[in-house]
Amino acid sequence: MNQDARHSELPAWAALRRHREQWDGAGLSELFAAEPRRGTTFAVRAGDLHIDYSKHLCTRETLGLLLDLATATGVAPLRDAMFRGEKVNVTEGRAVLHTALRAPRDAVVESGGVNVVPSVHAVLDHMAAFAGEVRAGRLTGHTGERIRNVVNIGIGGSDLGPAMAYEALRPYTARHLTFRFVSNIDGSDLYDALRDLRPAETLFLVASKSFATLETMSNAVAARDWLLSGLGAGREAVARHFAALTTSARNAADFGVSKDQVFEFWDWVGGRYSFDSAIGLSLMIAIGPERFTELLAGLRTMDEHFLTAPAEANAPFLLGLLCIWYGEFFDAHSHAVLPYSSHLAKFPEYLQQLDMESNGKSIDRQGRPVVCQTGPVVWGTRGINGQHAYFQLLHQGTRLVPADFIGFARPAADLPPAMAAQHDVLMANFFAQTQALAFGKSGSEPGSEGESEALLPHRTFRGDRPTTTVLAPQLTPSVLGQLIALYEHKVFVQGAVWNINSFDQWGVELGKELAKNLEPALTRGTPGRPVDGSTAALIARYRAWASAEAER
Ligand code: F6P
Repeated sequence: MNQDARHSELPAWAALRRHREQWDGAGLSELFAAEPRRGTTFAVRAGDLHIDYSKHLCTRETLGLLLDLATATGVAPLRDAMFRGEKVNVTEGRAVLHTALRAPRDAVVESGGVNVVPSVHAVLDHMAAFAGEVRAGRLTGHTGERIRNVVNIGIGGSDLGPAMAYEALRPYTARHLTFRFVSNIDGSDLYDALRDLRPAETLFLVASKSFATLETMSNAVAARDWLLSGLGAGREAVARHFAALTTSARNAADFGVSKDQVFEFWDWVGGRYSFDSAIGLSLMIAIGPERFTELLAGLRTMDEHFLTAPAEANAPFLLGLLCIWYGEFFDAHSHAVLPYSSHLAKFPEYLQQLDMESNGKSIDRQGRPVVCQTGPVVWGTRGINGQHAYFQLLHQGTRLVPADFIGFARPAADLPPAMAAQHDVLMANFFAQTQALAFGKSGSEPGSEGESEALLPHRTFRGDRPTTTVLAPQLTPSVLGQLIALYEHKVFVQGAVWNINSFDQWGVELGKELAKNLEPALTRGTPGRPVDGSTAALIARYRAWASAEAER
């Protein structure tokens, strides 16, 4: 891409703008009438995922213009530069190599002239050996009792990925071990996670790229106190009950973690792209090294698809570009992700960080304000529950909310027949919802006969609400890996088109700094620096209530 050309000046954007202005109002019924085989031709296969994008407000011409935009903005060259280990994270001067985390043992991926693959596999081997010990009951704590509980302490990318994947892969997890995930600095999070656990049987995994994040370190210190007072032991007990997943071996050692229980990763792995690095140790203990290897293979399958499939049949390209189409030309502010699987309940929350921390930017890679809409608000919950909550707005609200429906042909691997039988009902709803959103129903269609005239407008579903359907055979470790990499790369495509850096997160810093300044105001009444009138009044109210409670 010509980096000097401003976004709005690119002919590819102008062509799309004209195309949108000339859109003749054709809706999805008309688009399907014009191309009856659209259901099979507007679909792509990526690994085990069948991805149907036929229910989008787009024609072949639209897709062609969107693909021209991807070419004009240099998506493919930037992708290749990322995979090659170039420093595409321009504001932090770093390579972006999460794809190397799943590279095969014999691959060569260089960062700064060094092949990183041997280090990746050395850590994976270390993790596998340690996970094997815990799963076999051979890892013992300070008192010699076997470890039965694993508590991951981390936040953001050091929590959301492992916690989401642990839930997603519940049918594959070791049921003789207990797993908990603690992230919030609200003391209740840690307290509730620990209240029924015995310190002698508990292992803490402190997951933090920096090993300096306030929330995580505060929880780690509180967990250490809980452990030592519960055991009645001194600091020497820490080494047997703590492991660290971090880029900072030094900070981990200062905390008391023994060297052989530090699992390393590297600054070329972004926090929100790190769940398949050492940060995934809790997951590896839960599902075992073999299943973890299947997960890595699934991620790699999607990496290869992204690298090699032509853009017009490349799922991350297509999904990323369609999302840009709605954000820029249909004023869509948000994007719903609706997995029809209880095991994927945490998937939307995981995607929120992946997408919004990556693409919630308004400055381009050259440091200028962007002149387009960037990342949408990503939200969603598991299906079917959303149908009984917010689907009303999706069907009949005034806003256009593009949505991804994710479903599986077979139920979870461990279900007994009586419960597995519910799966067809779940999936009938899954298919019905995208059908209703796309094609709607006029008030005069069958089913509304006998309705009073007055009710007809209320019973009308306009349709033309765009959805993508992602269908896979079953939620296995490999399929989960494919899904995650699909979204990682979709986010990449969008960031590249918008010419923003998807790999930094400066926006989270200011709040952290201000909190440091306010802490003394809450405890002692005097902030480090003067604060605005609203915040000062709120703190005064807070302190009045807090001390009233203390006096009771
Ligand atoms: O929220 C900012 C952030 O830096 C995330 O990007 C990251 O995942 C999280 O904090 C946790 O950071 P760390 O792993 O260093 O504790």
